[in-house]
Amino acid sequence: MAKINQHYRQLKDSYLFSDIARRVAAFSQAHPEKEIIRMGIGDVTLPLMPSVISSLHSAVEEMADASTFRGYGPEQGYGFLRDAIRAYYVRFGVQLDPDEIFVSDGAKSDLGNITDLFSADNTVLIPDPVYPVYVDTNLMNGRKILYMNANAENGFLPMPDPEVRTDLIYLCSPNNPTGAVYTREQLAAWIDYALAQDAVLLFDAAYEAFIGDSSLPHSIFELPDAKRCAIEFCSLSKTAGFTGTRCGYTIIPKTLKIEGMSPNRMWNRRQATKFNGVPYIIQRGAEAAFSEEGVRQSQEMVAYYKKNTAVMAETLERCGVHFFGGVHSPYLWMECPDRMDSWTFFDYLLENAAIVGTPGAGFGINGEGYFRLTGFGSQPKTMEAMQRIASLLKGAN
Ligand code: MLT
Repeated sequence: MAKINQHYRQLKDSYLFSDIARRVAAFSQAHPEKEIIRMGIGDVTLPLMPSVISSLHSAVEEMADASTFRGYGPEQGYGFLRDAIRAYYVRFGVQLDPDEIFVSDGAKSDLGNITDLFSADNTVLIPDPVYPVYVDTNLMNGRKILYMNANAENGFLPMPDPEVRTDLIYLCSPNNPTGAVYTREQLAAWIDYALAQDAVLLFDAAYEAFIGDSSLPHSIFELPDAKRCAIEFCSLSKTAGFTGTRCGYTIIPKTLKIEGMSPNRMWNRRQATKFNGVPYIIQRGAEAAFSEEGVRQSQEMVAYYKKNTAVMAETLERCGVHFFGGVHSPYLWMECPDRMDSWTFFDYLLENAAIVGTPGAGFGINGEGYFRLTGFGSQPKTMEAMQRIASLLKGAN
């Protein structure tokens, strides 16, 4: 008799953003006349950058010619892209071996799949609120999860408690959903804690491009000793607008060793067995995103979205709404007005202003009472949304 993975019983019925999409589709069907503005899932709206488009076009031409056509590529990514990522990290003073970089179809897949390397009896430490993928993928494997409270008192940046024993630690900085960013000193404390516990730090750097202060670390590997205890995940989704194009990467240092085994070699083995690599055309596009011109263009994209978050922050301030984030992050994490719970505010905003956001409760218990808005919309729509929010909140006060 087939035995099912009973751990799936621990999961909520649906993934947060699927749940939101379903509710929005129902609203849209009931109110076809309303123009909905989407500030929920962190999906980009600007088109791919010219450098990426031109590289994608040339790669398509190569695929159309028998002499340059490519079939299966290396599962870990083509050398040209791994080299481009290696060179990008030099900007942060981080030296990597190309063999430490694994190209994939995005950080979400890798964050979930990395659990393959760790035994189910590891204890996992996860901040709350948090990007739901860390929790759900560990629940699927039946791991014990300890939550650390991220809240207004600690600026949504929980610090290690030496009394707490753990094996795996998830950190995301700049944080999704709160927009909070760890300083160098804070990350150094996390590294000391991980080393003292023989734990592995799983560091999600998907939003690093939004950091606008040179004293804040973009990569965990900017910190000494991180290569002995950390794995980093990153993505071109938010930096280079690849949400629909799919490309990310994971960095596993060769110096990281667990019980005499090398996670770098294990991941190499895992990817070779279960993954056939990212399409050549996409990898050429990604390579262009890491070129000097590509980085300049991606910084322009980030600046465009940051103008949105500045308008959002200014509106919320004017309305007397307290919020976090929005400076080194595309996300604003606002307190729900009038002590509404976050799903009530979700419905209130959708019904009265036709705006979609993400209820904080979807990110964990400590997210209750908060609401996440993204700055990834177009500027005109963001302005329009903030006008709607301002008149709604004025009306409510
Ligand atoms: C989010 O809205 O939290 C992200 O866009 C989801 C993701 O990156 O998978």
